[in-house]
Amino acid sequence: MILPIVGYGCAVLRQKAAPIDKDYPELKQLIADMYETMYSADGVGLAAPQIDRSIRVVVIGFRPYDEKTDTYGEVAEEHTLINPEILEKKGEMKYFNEGCLSVPDIHEDVLRPDTIVIRYFDEDFNEHKEEISGMFARVAQHEIDHLDGIVFTDRLSSLRKTMIKRKLSSVQSGKVNTAYRMKLAKK
Ligand code: NI
Repeated sequence: MILPIVGYGCAVLRQKAAPIDKDYPELKQLIADMYETMYSADGVGLAAPQIDRSIRVVVIGFRPYDEKTDTYGEVAEEHTLINPEILEKKGEMKYFNEGCLSVPDIHEDVLRPDTIVIRYFDEDFNEHKEEISGMFARVAQHEIDHLDGIVFTDRLSSLRKTMIKRKLSSVQSGKVNTAYRMKLAKK
């Protein structure tokens, strides 16, 4: 089921999400709904607070895109992260242009380490500890921020924050048009 995506300005995006255990009700269905919601909105990552659940669950998925046919291929890589923790930040600090389904129409360069060590549980509650880098590390850091009430625009310089202030307040006041369904702070 495709769920509405919570917009910037909603309180749930500012809460610290709670860890869950393997008895969390209908977890597999929730995860399936999160993937479906993310892909239908052309996202590469989605954190549970973005679908109005304040729990520590993240889905990440990269699909190969075929420009000729304007279609997406089979899913190449998926990662479900439950109760993820960043144990170590290493490697070079790099800028990458980020966006967020909760903050439509804003894309900004964000500085983050290229490589991190994370620990998380998968959807069967097997524990993993991995060193990751590149796109996976980038998206994981963006999504884990959501679990701590942080939105990527918080990480911009004060100059860039000033530049996007008006756009952010229009999302906050419900003046936004997206191809996917949203739940906004005000309408
Ligand atoms: Ni986001």
